[in-house]
Amino acid sequence: MKIPNKEKRELLIEALSYINKFSNKIVVIKYGGAAMIEENLKVSFAQDIILLQSLGLKPVIVHGGGPEVSHAMEKLGQKVSFIDGLRVTSAENLKVAEMVLSGTINKEIIAHINTFGGKAVGLSGKDGNLIEAKKKKHRKGIDLGYVGEIEKTNPEVLEVLLREGFLPVISPIGLGKDGTTYNVNADTVASYIAVALKANKIIFMTDVDGILINNQLQSILKTQEVSRLISEGTIQGGMVPKAQAVMYTVSYGVPSAHVINGTDPHAVIAELFTDEGIGTKIVP
Ligand SMILES: Nc1ncnc2c1ncn2[C@@H]1O[C@H](COP(=O)(O)OP(=O)(O)OP(=O)(O)O)[C@@H](O)[C@H]1O
Ligand SMILES: [Mg+2]
Repeated sequence: MKIPNKEKRELLIEALSYINKFSNKIVVIKYGGAAMIEENLKVSFAQDIILLQSLGLKPVIVHGGGPEVSHAMEKLGQKVSFIDGLRVTSAENLKVAEMVLSGTINKEIIAHINTFGGKAVGLSGKDGNLIEAKKKKHRKGIDLGYVGEIEKTNPEVLEVLLREGFLPVISPIGLGKDGTTYNVNADTVASYIAVALKANKIIFMTDVDGILINNQLQSILKTQEVSRLISEGTIQGGMVPKAQAVMYTVSYGVPSAHVINGTDPHAVIAELFTDEGIGTKIVP
């Protein structure tokens, strides 16, 4: 598609106004496992992140890795099961989850960003005691194994990295006070980090266009509506912890929270630098 010159100019001016607004602002990006399947998407994501940094934004990435973790567990003959969008994690599941998340996936993202000239640094929630976790209690008393809930975040290590121009890439593994490792939902980690860093914006990149009702994209939703969609079962599975994470960030003062489709190349750029944005925006 060829864009006429006049429209090009208007697009550029629109984008430039956002560049000013975002300069030096922290943007937390939850990079969902479901959105990182194809190699070309991984590459366009890395390019976008570098671009954001060169425009003066301070991106912080928290990644998931659901499909790859499940795949590795299946290959080893382990059971894969989810309850309310949370991965039930046995001791042997935990070893695989940590290996794939903090090893394979985290280092792959770092490699992609740094080959484009970035200064990405990988860390898990264990590093610098970033994520202090404890065993998560399920509301119906179901034992989820080594699934953690966040007790406290210590964002100092991120502040040091950001101050020096590094780009933190965080895997969703937490550490208990007694040294137990926990698998924490990545959406939850992203939301706590956004609040702790007083981020300007949080973007959840997933594999659907946003929050859907009867397959229809909702471009704007209030937290109260999101809460209702969860309780009536319209929001299910992996969207449950994501929707809860969105509500948490919005209620703790992160000015802007979005769920977007990361399988769309350069989705982050479209969200940040156009008036319409994309996906679902959640407001208080
Ligand atoms: N109302 C809804 N609107 C949109 N998606 C929904 C809804 N209810 C359930 N979902 C499911 O939530 C999924 C997204 O969550 P999922 O946990 O699978 O991905 P992710 O969080 O992006 O990746 P990862 O968990 O690996 O970090 C969608 O693919 C969709 O199937
Ligand atoms: Mg998920």
